[in-house]
Amino acid sequence: MGDLESGSGGNGLKRHPVESSSLQKKPLFHSWFQFLILLCLVVFILCYTLSSSSLSWWQSFPLHVQWTSRLNPPRHYRHPQQRVELNEIHKTTQDPPVAPTGTQYHQAYPRNYHFIMDNTEVCKTKTPFLVLMVPVAPNNIAARDAIRQTWGKDSLVQGEVVLTLFMLGLSGGADGEQQQEKLKQENLQHHDLIQSDFMDTYLNLTIKTMVIMDWLATRCPTAAYAMKIDSDMFLNIDNLVIMLQRPGIPKLNYLTGMLMWNRPVVRSKDSKWYVPEEMYPDPQYPTYTLGMGYVFSNDLPEKYVDVSKSIKPFNIEDAYIGMCMKILGLEPTSPPNPSQFKAYNTRYDRCEYSKIITYILGSPQELINYWTDMKKPGPPC
Ligand SMILES: *[C@@H]1O[C@H](CO)[C@@H](O)[C@H](O)[C@H]1NC(C)=O
Repeated sequence: MGDLESGSGGNGLKRHPVESSSLQKKPLFHSWFQFLILLCLVVFILCYTLSSSSLSWWQSFPLHVQWTSRLNPPRHYRHPQQRVELNEIHKTTQDPPVAPTGTQYHQAYPRNYHFIMDNTEVCKTKTPFLVLMVPVAPNNIAARDAIRQTWGKDSLVQGEVVLTLFMLGLSGGADGEQQQEKLKQENLQHHDLIQSDFMDTYLNLTIKTMVIMDWLATRCPTAAYAMKIDSDMFLNIDNLVIMLQRPGIPKLNYLTGMLMWNRPVVRSKDSKWYVPEEMYPDPQYPTYTLGMGYVFSNDLPEKYVDVSKSIKPFNIEDAYIGMCMKILGLEPTSPPNPSQFKAYNTRYDRCEYSKIITYILGSPQELINYWTDMKKPGPPC
């Protein structure tokens, strides 16, 4: 303390002139070592402030997710591109991604397909603020039931009408007819299945997404917002509605979620995410929102349906929506708090789950367990 008072303290008058001049000549740091320590400290504080302030600033480095998932793939993490089966891509590699002028009505143009169940009355009896559209495999009743008990349960959230519907294609296989009968029964009970007549396979996910868009455009045009959300997701529906109620949220041309910038198209043939140049020549995808869950204003589905007439489909459905945005001259928007859109999770944390909007989960049972715990009374943190 004494040293501080006489040396670098505020009272210069007390200081002896010689001392003072010798102080000025002293180097700022006694050694490089001290300098380095200080530098490290400054960098650390800077990083810490940035990372805790808003979005994980590191997420803006486009390759981050790829790096981490490759180096250390978390248990449940899967990128949508992982759904692509390598051999299956080879089967469908003929045309360039954007059709030559005149060529229209491509495979992902949803009006090539026809609804078998469309629950057309659900948006006539009410005007939803938000429609949750969940693509799910026809036989995945466990996922649907878990969602019906959890984030798909309430039709009124934060005072807004919310609707949850499941999107399915046709299940192949020998017991197709039997399955179809079961689905009809399920729909009679819940009135929440939308089904179209395309084959429900991994490679047809882009078709599935576009049929979702067609349903929204033609059967539910009065809704304000919609979300495409995978069936293995945790969704904090309250936080999502609260986000959409914010004054600054656009009502038109709005697409948000976990943004992916400058993602390279994987050209390594050993990779699960390999996409051949014949299918998609650009080295990078346009900016898109990760397919696990993206939210959009409900004017967009009609626009996507229109442009899909002339886009050669590729089976990376989320990047395909990014392509639709690009062709429409639009860009996805960062969410108000981007750290709320999370992909992989490592463990459940009640406090954490009460703040976020999405997380990818491992099983329907996990969803039920986490949801039940989150809804228990008492402070979450
Ligand atoms: C996608 O669906 C169409 C229409 O049902 C079907 O002809 C095609 O074989 C499916 N493609 C794949 C790869 O499953």
